[in-house]
Amino acid sequence: MSSKDQSIHGIWGRWIFILAATGSAVGLGNIWKFPYITGENGGGAFVLVYLLCISLVGIPIMIAEVALGRKGRKSPINSVKEAANEADVAHWWQGIGWMGALAGFFILSFYSVIAGWALAYIPKVAMGTFTGADSAVAESTFGNLLADPLTLLGWHSLFMVLTLTVIARGVNKGLEAAIRILMPLLFILLLVLLGYSLSSDGVAEAANFMFSFDFSKLTGESVLVALGHAFFTLSLGMGAIMAYGAYMPRDASIAKTVMTIGALDTIVALVAGMCIFPIVFANGMEPGAGPGLMFQTLPLAFGQMPMGEVFGTLFFLLVAFAAWSSAISLAEPAVAWAVEKGFNRVKASVAVGVFAWTLGIGTVLSFNLWSGDEYKIFGKTFFDTLDFLTANIMLPLGGMLIAIFVGWKMKKRKVEKELDMASMLPFNIWYAITRLVAPGAVLVVFLKGLGLF
Ligand code: TRP
Repeated sequence: MSSKDQSIHGIWGRWIFILAATGSAVGLGNIWKFPYITGENGGGAFVLVYLLCISLVGIPIMIAEVALGRKGRKSPINSVKEAANEADVAHWWQGIGWMGALAGFFILSFYSVIAGWALAYIPKVAMGTFTGADSAVAESTFGNLLADPLTLLGWHSLFMVLTLTVIARGVNKGLEAAIRILMPLLFILLLVLLGYSLSSDGVAEAANFMFSFDFSKLTGESVLVALGHAFFTLSLGMGAIMAYGAYMPRDASIAKTVMTIGALDTIVALVAGMCIFPIVFANGMEPGAGPGLMFQTLPLAFGQMPMGEVFGTLFFLLVAFAAWSSAISLAEPAVAWAVEKGFNRVKASVAVGVFAWTLGIGTVLSFNLWSGDEYKIFGKTFFDTLDFLTANIMLPLGGMLIAIFVGWKMKKRKVEKELDMASMLPFNIWYAITRLVAPGAVLVVFLKGLGLF
């Protein structure tokens, strides 16, 4: 590595980048959010649109984002700023970095509350709350948790402290070792669960629900949700992957690495769906149950399984760890920026954490004291509003601007050099998608989702 090829924050080993980026991508988005939005949006056709969004929009933009980060070797705000100066574009292009940091705060604030639910479930499952329970018990247990703001606040606080502790120590210290053990374990546990749910009564119905393409169920808004989720699940559009790309060694191939991460992330989401929906159908539950879906179905399955307390406890522990390794990437862009400004990393982490924690109180209250109509904004709770605003507006918008910037504003030669692909054909395919298909798709989906045509 040449002396120039450094980042003040550190450089990762080749497969540490894959692990860290997969750790960022695989999280609550895959296990919690994907199944419930699939349920809310009617299943099959939504899954198909989501897969198209991942391959035609998400993966190409992820390549662009990593390239931008590795080229700049700084926080997203400063990497974008430098690239914008170099490309001699209007000042406002730097806004990509700022909007990203803001989106990171918003997402971290609610992400921590939901991750807190997973933490709360660890002792519940371990103590046998669900052993032999039926769906009524599963539903009321979850309902009671949501109705209790102080308990939610406690778990939210714990998760935020966990996240900040790792950030304060630097991303590579401590986290690497954890990810190395936890990611494979998560995969194994998902497979155990899959084995259980595939042998239950609801499999055929679940497969039919997820993979039969009934386009009459697709609305403009559900296409927007699918696109937004492609960004959310791949950690795109706000700089998280750009920040991680900044620590990526020069000799690793960006395109190949990104495709691996995209594939792993998609597999985890589909497997999570195939774990959850059979249980939904076998127990006469509602696929459109909303954010509580995972917390009501999986405990049921564990409650009926031999050694269910052990597997269930481990499972929620791992969900919490998956969320943890994702949450870190949400805060890293803002912390890295503050460090470049001269703040010490610990202070920067505390500041970011306190801010996101405070905002998280709004999400805590969305499920109880503020759940009434008088607190809703356009029919959405505070949590729903933040979720919609970030996933469906800010991330796609950020991703679209990144694609336009890398595709149209940066010199092609520089982009080519950063990607360093073995042959021109794959580069040219990617380049065309990044210039035309990805931004075009986001624009069309935006206009349609917002009901403009
Ligand atoms: N991708 C993570 C998940 O699916 C969440 C996440 C982490 C994220 N970093 C992000 C979402 C950056 C958007 C932007 O759970």
